[in-house]
Amino acid sequence: MSLLSVRGIVKRYGGLTAVDGASFDIDAGELVGLIGPNGSGKTTLLNILSGLAEPDGGEILLDGAPCHGLKPEQLAHRGVMRMFQLTRVFRRMNVIDNLLVAGRALGLDGAEALNRADTLIEELRLDAVRALDAGQLSGGQMKLLEFGVCFMVPPRIALLDEPFAAVHPTMKEIMGGFIRSRHEQGQTFILVSHDMPVIVELCPRAVCMNAGKVIIDAPTRTVLSNADVIEAYLGGQAA
Ligand SMILES: Nc1ncnc2c1ncn2[C@@H]1O[C@H](COP(=O)(O)OP(=O)(O)O)[C@@H](O)[C@H]1O
Ligand SMILES: [Mg+2]
Repeated sequence: MSLLSVRGIVKRYGGLTAVDGASFDIDAGELVGLIGPNGSGKTTLLNILSGLAEPDGGEILLDGAPCHGLKPEQLAHRGVMRMFQLTRVFRRMNVIDNLLVAGRALGLDGAEALNRADTLIEELRLDAVRALDAGQLSGGQMKLLEFGVCFMVPPRIALLDEPFAAVHPTMKEIMGGFIRSRHEQGQTFILVSHDMPVIVELCPRAVCMNAGKVIIDAPTRTVLSNADVIEAYLGGQAA
């Protein structure tokens, strides 16, 4: 059984159909790239998957059980986490304490929280700023801290919408490395990004949307060389 099953999801805004019957399945442990030109419905679909928007049609199954219509907190509780929607970073609290507070809030005991926080600080290269208040971090470091907070208790599926946008290349490297190594440890992700080299490098499989529809779902290299995909991007740029 798939971890997540997206079946015929439709979302309309007035006369506009933002998501138009999108379907795909995600197995546990997959890292799937969700691509498509601007306005193709990727963010709307992630909003629906994470409970921020309600679909007008279709269904979403988590472990085979319907989960559409649940609130973001309820979905997060079941392990569907859209980063960084529910992330709480306290600006006047230092990096290590932000991680510890997140871990304790999610039920970890003190020793386990400290253990995981130390691991995350190392993975996310936040060692040098671990005692700084979050409010003093750069934008990229703040995003890395948000990753940390989200992964104190790893979600069953992490939904990432353009995590690399407007992030310094060094931070992008760290984020990419984090996603890759967590994927190798079995973490499931859906990754939306316009950065095709990163999608090729990280994602074995890609789903491409255009005008609200899934136009192809295949190994990433197959998707990127597909004529309809190229046409969709060219069309998007010309519009
Ligand atoms: N809250 C909203 N109200 C009205 N239209 C929306 C809303 N959210 C998204 N849209 C429209 O839905 C379409 C898909 O948008 P979006 O999901 O943001 O695409 P993407 O993330 O692929 O760029 C676009 O035409 C966008 O303008
Ligand atoms: Mg978007």
